[in-house]
Amino acid sequence: MAYISEVMGCGGYLPAKILTNQELAQTLDTTDEWIVERTGIHRRHIADNGQLTSDLAVQAAKQALEQADLSADDIDCIIVATTTPDHPFPATAARVQSKLGASKAFAFDIQAVCSGFVYGLAVADNFIRTGQAKIVLFIGAETMSRLLDWHDRRTCILFGDGAGALLLKASSSPSSLSSGVLSTHLFSDGHHYDALYVDDTIRIDALSRGVIRMQGREIFKSAVEKIGQAVQKALDNHKLTANDIDWFVPHQANQRIIMGVCERFSIPVEKMVLTIAEHANTSAASIPLALNTAVQDGRIQKGHLVLIEAMGGGLTWGSSLIRW
Ligand code: UT7
Repeated sequence: MAYISEVMGCGGYLPAKILTNQELAQTLDTTDEWIVERTGIHRRHIADNGQLTSDLAVQAAKQALEQADLSADDIDCIIVATTTPDHPFPATAARVQSKLGASKAFAFDIQAVCSGFVYGLAVADNFIRTGQAKIVLFIGAETMSRLLDWHDRRTCILFGDGAGALLLKASSSPSSLSSGVLSTHLFSDGHHYDALYVDDTIRIDALSRGVIRMQGREIFKSAVEKIGQAVQKALDNHKLTANDIDWFVPHQANQRIIMGVCERFSIPVEKMVLTIAEHANTSAASIPLALNTAVQDGRIQKGHLVLIEAMGGGLTWGSSLIRW
């Protein structure tokens, strides 16, 4: 029997505490105008002390379970895409499993930084396609604020905390284009390892933790080209054009990168789901947060064709087409 991964529900969670550009400008040599013009970001949400990545993940997961009308007992597999696990090990997914009480699931993390959601979706989809899991809870969750050097204006303005979740279910499908995850396309190039990285090994000691270092301009230049390659591959794979897409839900890293991709493929701005203003770059959480926003406000509906893409540290990049 051939299976496809159908989307049953989604959820999102942003911590209550908001840090605006204006607040940042009080302690940093920057301005609201610069940040908005160069990135599209207006504010970011910051996890409280003691609020861990797994806490954010569980909130998003509960919302997805509710939307899908499923219980924790139904879940076979939990995958958390994160760069900011609660601890170096065990996997944050194991903690999510315990907090949800999803006793029959197996659980693990994947790490592909800002591409984590596309990479994790590929993993989840393959578990379902091969019949190894029937219901997969897949979460992108991050507390990026804990990896920031708050004195570095080139990086600390860009990131925020949050989580988004998808529930995928195996269903048999007569045609590969009818519904669910149609395909995923993954790429990486380790030659650019140093373009975006954390400058220390993992330590729990907050006084000596590593922080994000980024060659912003280099990443920016690569982004439109590499994302373009991933988007083209997804479209070509199904003999589609950008006109066939109902919604373009990109990784929310920089509004100018997103606009560049839209221009390259002549995707009208009305089809673009943009949430970066509200939560900045939440790494693996940004796509599911945007998906959840567009589902909640009624834009994405059953049967719609959704294109997602991401690029991040590694470098890693990728895309996927999902028939909602
Ligand atoms: O998820 C994937 C990971 N990351 C990304 O996708 C990020 C990709 N890169 C970017 O988004 C952009 O490169 C940034 C937003 C990081 C920077 O924007 P930019 O237009 O590429 O600016 P820049 O680095 O070329 O810097 C221009 C100027 C510099 O001043 P000088 O040297 O021209 O005098 C910077 O020092 O802007 C200055 N600058 C700032 N000024 C005010 C850099 N950061 C700031 C700031 N506020 N926060």
